[in-house]
Amino acid sequence: MRISQVEAIERLQRGEVVAIPTETVYGLAADARNAMAVAKIYATKQRPANNPLIVHIGRIEQVNDWASAFPPLAQKLAAAFWPGPLTLVLPAREEVSMAVRAGEPTVALRIPAHPVALALLNESGLGLAAPSANKYTQLSPTTADHVEAGLGVDIPVLDGGACQVGIESTIVSVHEDKWMLLRPGMIDAAAISAIAGQPAATQTEVDLPKVPGQHLLHYSPRTPCLLFSSTQAMRDYAQQHPKSAALLFSGDLNLTAKEIHLPADPALAAEQLYAALHTLDAVQAEIILIESPPATAAWDALRDRLQRAAYQPLPAK
Ligand code: TXA
Ligand code: MG
Repeated sequence: MRISQVEAIERLQRGEVVAIPTETVYGLAADARNAMAVAKIYATKQRPANNPLIVHIGRIEQVNDWASAFPPLAQKLAAAFWPGPLTLVLPAREEVSMAVRAGEPTVALRIPAHPVALALLNESGLGLAAPSANKYTQLSPTTADHVEAGLGVDIPVLDGGACQVGIESTIVSVHEDKWMLLRPGMIDAAAISAIAGQPAATQTEVDLPKVPGQHLLHYSPRTPCLLFSSTQAMRDYAQQHPKSAALLFSGDLNLTAKEIHLPADPALAAEQLYAALHTLDAVQAEIILIESPPATAAWDALRDRLQRAAYQPLPAK
């Protein structure tokens, strides 16, 4: 159900959930100060309660409403990348509800670079807790149609068009003068290092939190996926399994079933990634064959999402 910005603000102020556009993926938003509203996010997504949420804010001054410290290193990263696809994990103020931070002593914050999201945040003045607007472990949505396909047509959606970054934000944890990458994204580790003036700390150097809720099976289509490191192996497999669909970065398979080619540029490929997987998931293939993206740092975030999409636990003996 598409709603206007005015209605979105009214619903959020009443403690309801609304799906909102961001530059990365659509988020399922609720007032982060209202624990009952935040509980509706977990219920709608069927997400376990030990997986904390990102709080979206409209202005950098609002960091201090949520974080008990905003170290100079975090300030530099915020100045360089906000609004944008970077989430900063900082020590939380005591009053930040456990519903948002799932028991962690930290809170995750970001200012999204999407005009509709920014207008909503700044006109409502709210901090909005928002995970991706999909059921737990399923594919993230990058259009309003994806949101309705995943969560049902009754979910109120503020339609802001197709997301331009296309995969979830980079998550960086900052502890005093040290930082760690908790989730790769289109702002890569080299870009963070350049602004921070130092490489990421190692886990042994500082006891930074791991990312809770980063399950291996995540971002998954309903159709099983298999990741291949060579197109020759993919072709061999496809010849024996003609009901396969395929996602490719280089060669052609010329399968009878559906195949989608992503651009050779990682930013463009990221923008199209989830839409391609949603499309392949809908063709009723037996399996989706995925070519591994190039083994360079520029493709780290896409490789991470594809490895998670393709992860299958080993069958029990
Ligand atoms: O691009 C994005 O980040 C999108 C849009 C909607 O902003 N949101 C998103 O949310 O991807 P979600 O819930 O799907 O992923 C948030 C991740 C989770 O894996 C969670 O573990 C991590 O952020 N996270 C949240 N709070 C945290 C905290 N206090 N410490 C460590 N990790 C945290
Ligand atoms: Mg998600």
